[in-house]
Amino acid sequence: MSNNTQAFDEWLRTRFVEINSQLEAIYWQQEDKANVEFVGEQFKHQLEAEGNAHIRKLLAEGNTDEGFDRAFDLLGNVGLFMAACRRHEITEPSRETTSPLVEASALAMHIGASIGVTPRFATAHLTTHNKAINGLYKRFTDLPDEKLFIDYNTKGILAYKRAADALLKIQPLGISHPLCGDLLKVAKQALVDVIESNTALYNQLDTERFFFCVRPYYKPYRVGKEVYRGANAGDFAGINVIDMLLGLCFANEPSYSQMLVDKFLYMMPEDQQILRESMRMPSIMDDFLAVGDTRHSSWFKTNAKLFIQVCKLHGDTAIGHHNQLVSKFIAQPAQHMQQQHMNKVTASGPPLHVLLDSLEQLRDRRAAAKRDDIRTRYDDLAQLKQWVSN
Ligand code: HEM
Repeated sequence: MSNNTQAFDEWLRTRFVEINSQLEAIYWQQEDKANVEFVGEQFKHQLEAEGNAHIRKLLAEGNTDEGFDRAFDLLGNVGLFMAACRRHEITEPSRETTSPLVEASALAMHIGASIGVTPRFATAHLTTHNKAINGLYKRFTDLPDEKLFIDYNTKGILAYKRAADALLKIQPLGISHPLCGDLLKVAKQALVDVIESNTALYNQLDTERFFFCVRPYYKPYRVGKEVYRGANAGDFAGINVIDMLLGLCFANEPSYSQMLVDKFLYMMPEDQQILRESMRMPSIMDDFLAVGDTRHSSWFKTNAKLFIQVCKLHGDTAIGHHNQLVSKFIAQPAQHMQQQHMNKVTASGPPLHVLLDSLEQLRDRRAAAKRDDIRTRYDDLAQLKQWVSN
């Protein structure tokens, strides 16, 4: 790591966290906790000036080609700085047509384009690719609520990835292979882990702290002239690998494929590759439905039963995400928010009701709910359930 990169990383793990935490304390004391205008100005200036001083040196240093991991990590650090500037409204995408953080934008675009990801910080930077030093990984603030949120996001993502890996291994073996059942059991356990981890987050996270002091760091911000949507825990391939391999969602359905197209560059390149491959694979559901004539064999009964249980658990993770996490930590507090801040609520940008509607559709596809307006696997799963029951 170059000296400049190291110095920036150290600043990010210390001063940056101190300044953000001080600003959070100031905002928190206000009657309108969502207001950030004209408060803590001297801290905001410090943040901007100190961050820019580091970035100026890094930009001048140019591409030192220290490999993908270093480049990705540096992009994350620049991104955390830009996201914090947006949180404190040092920058504000609707106010500007191009980011005032000119040097940070140039550095982020240089790195992002050269490694094939968006030029902003992504979920992986804070979760699965966030190196801890002496037990502490990178964060915006020292608030325990932020740590809790990142810990449980990481846990959830890692568990979904375990489920996805197990399902991917079924593909070359086939559904009648003696080890298919073992892999379905691994997927089941991993999805149970997602549910447990999300339930713990639901019970432990403080709604107001999350809404006012954590979530605002995940807003969209401008890099150069483009606005890039906020990071969310879904920016990894595993969740969609599970959707498509189980056959609950379809890569050729416009709203689902739109979501995949939009998220590609927010994922690590290795995840982009996995997602591309899984978009071309047949689903396990279709494999079972295609061999209905073998439904009386013991392998079919055992494996199809396990498959149905995996589908049920995947649906339950989506129901928990929507009905618990999104509802408690986004939709409900947004109802009480002062109107002038409402257009800034979601990470991805669209109005809240549009976002909630699309998340609800995803939930119902994953849960194979009976719906007339969108395609779900309700009937196909009912068919499979009937086959294994007699
Ligand atoms: C997306 C809320 C935690 C998985 C989203 C979105 C919201 C949201 C509002 C839509 C994207 C956007 O805002 O632009 C929350 C809240 C959480 C939470 C309030 C906790 C306080 C988690 C956790 C996971 C997760 C722990 C597990 C890995 C996902 C996935 C997506 C997503 C996969 C992408 C859309 C999808 O495929 O369902 N989340 N989330 N979320 N979140 Fe969460």
